[in-house]
Amino acid sequence: MHQILLSLHSINRWLVLLSLLYSIYLAAMGRLKQLKFTANANFVRHVTATISQIQLLLGLSLYMISPVVKYAVAESDNNHLVSEHVFFKYIHIWLMATSVVLITLGSAKAKRMETDDQKFSTMLFWFSLALLVILVAIPWPFSPFTNRPFLRSF
Ligand code: HEM
Repeated sequence: MHQILLSLHSINRWLVLLSLLYSIYLAAMGRLKQLKFTANANFVRHVTATISQIQLLLGLSLYMISPVVKYAVAESDNNHLVSEHVFFKYIHIWLMATSVVLITLGSAKAKRMETDDQKFSTMLFWFSLALLVILVAIPWPFSPFTNRPFLRSF
């Protein structure tokens, strides 16, 4: 079960990133070219928020069963800023939960704005902020915190 959730969480991270990048691109273009906030833009906004919320659910399920979160095992060759245990138990969860809140808030605010320009600006601001947090909190193979592969298969 742990392995399945870990793989799903690892794969869905790319959907989170791609949907966020596409939303940010749409919002930036919308602002620059004074475009209409079409049904397609609205769909992208909604899907991006949903994908991040699915990642939150996968993450929470993983958090409850993960041995890395449960046990602080001494790591022999740890040259990272923090241990894997500390990273996943405290840092990853809080930064990522914050990012999903930012996306959800931004999405809801954009939906309620009156003009198309306000909708694009709101989406651009909140989604970009969330992307920055996510980029820091992902355990990239080159992260100073903890390293995990770019992709994990089943
Ligand atoms: C946008 C949100 C998130 C992204 C992009 C993300 C990304 C990742 C990635 C790339 C990994 C490494 C997977 C691997 O080892 O192959 C990971 C591991 C993990 N994530 Fe997340 N995550 C997110 C949100 C969360 C949240 C909200 C939680 C907790 C509530 C969470 C809990 C975990 C745990 C516990 C692990 C390590 C599990 C283990 O090795 O046993 N994640 N995450």
